[in-house]
Amino acid sequence: MARRRQIYEGKAKVLFEGPEPGTIVQYFKDDATAFNNKKKGVITGKGVLNNRISEFLMIKLAEIGIPTHFVRRLNMREQLVREVEIIPLEVVIRNIAAGSLSQRYGVPEGTALPRSIIEYYYKNDELNDPLVSEEHITAFGWANTHDLDEMMGLSLRINDFLTGLFLGVGIRLIDFKLEFGRLWEGEEMRIVLADEISPDNCRLWDLKTNEKMDKDRFRRDLGGVEEAYQEVARRLGILPEGGPRDLKGPETMQ
Ligand code: TMP
Repeated sequence: MARRRQIYEGKAKVLFEGPEPGTIVQYFKDDATAFNNKKKGVITGKGVLNNRISEFLMIKLAEIGIPTHFVRRLNMREQLVREVEIIPLEVVIRNIAAGSLSQRYGVPEGTALPRSIIEYYYKNDELNDPLVSEEHITAFGWANTHDLDEMMGLSLRINDFLTGLFLGVGIRLIDFKLEFGRLWEGEEMRIVLADEISPDNCRLWDLKTNEKMDKDRFRRDLGGVEEAYQEVARRLGILPEGGPRDLKGPETMQ
């Protein structure tokens, strides 16, 4: 079978041209990076798990009316998504202080925030994804005020929903990162949730023990990285049927 045209290779995913115009295939890799590519590694089975976890969460979000780019999962490592124009922002929603917020403002990790905080980072590896304000975003034309209102509204709804969903399986949603895209339907433009939602871009702590169940285990060399991702999938009820042995998944690409 003819090899599909690769559109883009990112740090954790490869994008291929989809079967129909306006679609893209997202292939989830096991590669992991941190600190803007300074730290590199492989988390065996991560691609299979993140494909499943992101599928599960995007479907649940669509059920409550959040527009997403997700169409369907194709196989162990691939999903079909709508082609969107990615807004060059990383939208971070925080419920509990951790990571860069703790460092930047001197708030101890684990401190509950008085309300959810939304931050925007400009997606640019060369600049190290700098924190930006709405002023920067509108002045430089990355998004307009309408786009920002839409992204903030969706982010808060997603946060409320995911906080409850994870709480139900004994996990505290500390913070997470979202990306949005513009979906054009003729003259009409809609902002939709894009990229992925997985332990790569969420902080997830066990409700009882506060044990970390996300990419911080890799970033901070805590060990048990594969097991943590598996445990998140297991609690969500979506561990691949054959269990961890199934995680390697088919490596062949059409
Ligand atoms: P931070 O505390 O390092 O700013 O991270 C906040 C959240 O965003 C955390 O859940 C991890 C996620 N994140 C990404 O998904 N990609 C990134 O490049 C960074 C820096 C963080």
